[in-house]
Amino acid sequence: MTLRHATIKDLEILTYWDLQQHVVASDPNDDWNWQTELQRTPEWREQLIAEVDGKPVGFIQIIDPLKEDTKYWGDVAPDTRAIDIWIGEKENLGKGYGSVMMNLALGRCFTDSNIKAVLIDPLEANERAHKFYEKLGFKFVEMRVFGSDICRVYRLDRQDWMRQ
Ligand SMILES: CC(C)(COP(=O)(O)OP(=O)(O)OC[C@H]1O[C@@H](n2cnc3c(N)ncnc32)[C@H](O)[C@@H]1OP(=O)(O)O)[C@@H](O)C(=O)NCCC(=O)NCCS
Repeated sequence: MTLRHATIKDLEILTYWDLQQHVVASDPNDDWNWQTELQRTPEWREQLIAEVDGKPVGFIQIIDPLKEDTKYWGDVAPDTRAIDIWIGEKENLGKGYGSVMMNLALGRCFTDSNIKAVLIDPLEANERAHKFYEKLGFKFVEMRVFGSDICRVYRLDRQDWMRQ
């Protein structure tokens, strides 16, 4: 598997993945504005496509939550990263792709020695994602409401990542 930067050429597949039921269920209230955002490369964000044998299987975004435009994360510590992830096709769920994607993304985050922790905010109802993050070593921090979404915040500290 490789991660490569998403471009405007990925508009069609990202728009198609957005319609898949498991993707909608994990993020029902956000509009990712792909047409605009795929043509922007702010320094606080990486939007990445995961490919297996050259075929796109999923999307992962890494942001600096302190610098992100909308201040989605509110009052957040410096030197952290926040990640969003999904597998595109239903038939590719549960094949281990998500774990490989997250490990590649976490490696990317912690390569910067200033980064202290990575944050994740799955919906409270997304039990599959909770198990996924817990297995990767993330620790539950708190319940939090983001807009109209009730979410669990999880955090993976650098020390816990290094220990694995
Ligand atoms: C969350 C997601 C990225 C995980 O990727 P994945 O490739 O399906 O997960 P993996 O195959 O790497 O599985 C890793 C672990 O996740 C958990 N998991 C995976 N599928 C699961 C299922 N159907 N039910 C419960 N737990 C499951 C398990 O703990 C699993 O470990 P195991 O295989 O040893 O039991 C993927 O399920 C997904 O895209 N879901 C929809 C979008 C989403 O919820 N994104 C996260 C939003 S915060």
